[in-house]
Amino acid sequence: MDIWERAKAVFPGGVNSPARALKHLARPLVALGADGPYLYTDRGRLVDFCSAFGAIILGHNNPRVREAVERQLRSGWIYALLTEQEVALAEKIRSHMPSIRKIRFVNTGTEATMNAIRLARGYTKRDVIIKFDGNFHGSHDYVLVKAGSGAATWGIPTSAGIPADVVKLTVVVPYNDVEAFVRAVREVGDRLAAVIAEPVAGNYGLIIPDKEFLKALREETERTGAVLIFDEVITGFRLGLSGAQGHFGVRPDLTTLGKVLGGGFPIGAFGGGEEIMDLLAPQGPVYNAGTYNAHPVSIAAGLAVLEELETGRPYEVANKAAERMARGIEDVAGRYGFDVVVKQISSMFQLYFKRGDVKTPDDVRRSDERLYLKLHEIALRHGLYLAPSQYEVNFTTSAHTQEVVEWALGSLEKSFRELKSAL
Ligand SMILES: Cc1ncc(COP(=O)(O)O)c(C=O)c1O
Repeated sequence: MDIWERAKAVFPGGVNSPARALKHLARPLVALGADGPYLYTDRGRLVDFCSAFGAIILGHNNPRVREAVERQLRSGWIYALLTEQEVALAEKIRSHMPSIRKIRFVNTGTEATMNAIRLARGYTKRDVIIKFDGNFHGSHDYVLVKAGSGAATWGIPTSAGIPADVVKLTVVVPYNDVEAFVRAVREVGDRLAAVIAEPVAGNYGLIIPDKEFLKALREETERTGAVLIFDEVITGFRLGLSGAQGHFGVRPDLTTLGKVLGGGFPIGAFGGGEEIMDLLAPQGPVYNAGTYNAHPVSIAAGLAVLEELETGRPYEVANKAAERMARGIEDVAGRYGFDVVVKQISSMFQLYFKRGDVKTPDDVRRSDERLYLKLHEIALRHGLYLAPSQYEVNFTTSAHTQEVVEWALGSLEKSFRELKSAL
């Protein structure tokens, strides 16, 4: 029987994570393998700009990561005991991110943000958190909250199955809007436990905030005694070794990490100053535990990735690839008469069919999503796997060499030509 029919019979919607459903296509992609910048799929070879939603920065099947993992496998792959390697990885993270003095390794970004929020509540003994419209922090109850209209919205659940009473404690505020944020902090008052933010928003297209916005987050949380959590699950080790906090020079109290840190293996981490981190069990009263926490295979992969990133070379290649893609898209879109905005920072980029800039989630909502999905579908036929939604981001890696990028831009030219003639 056809794999898609089999998949639909065993998985709700035929997939194990909604972002893989690719609803604008007749059927989702089926992966057969991957190497360097390429995905091998049932549609043939594709240059991969999704990069597992940002989980890899050294390309697929990177030899250094693979060797580290193979070495670990020969010594067994789970002990549920302390290892030297996890200490070494934590020391590396600390050396690059001065805001982090102590760390807890978990398995996903979702666990990282859930536990960071719990820790912030335990630390402040307060219960309300502020999150931003257009930011995504994983799929747990505290943060699956939709904004209604108005500046600050006391949350309503985005998903069925979340008690309204839980998300009442989550206030949603427009991203990159200092005034709305300051007003919300005032409204919440002394119940504010934490503010959680993506320091560059990578889950609503790509939104690069003003530095003033990030500074306001720091100042207001400091003033009110709330905990500032930067969710660097995407930006950690992608915007450089010191993450977005280093890039923008704003120091959070807690940082959540994932994706790049695991080199494509499941990982999450959260860390911060000693005073707050020492509240975690077994030292303190805030509970977190996990059979797979600091899994040796993910830790081995993470060490290999960081060692490679420390040479600086992967950033040079990956960042240059994203820059060239961004300029190339502007150029080709202009030639075919499309109004396109391209946002890019380090090895992340996204395009929007719209005029004017993209600074807020409202700006993203004003772009032509239909055209984006049409381009995505056409580009697949020309060998490119672009971010599969207007609300996702393209990620380049150190495997996206100049040659690969030139080839991709040639395919984009064909794709835009076809898009034009399809209108
Ligand atoms: C900023 C951010 N935080 C948290 C998460 C959740 O991470 P995970 O999918 O590993 O649970 C994601 C996932 O896309 C993310 O982009």
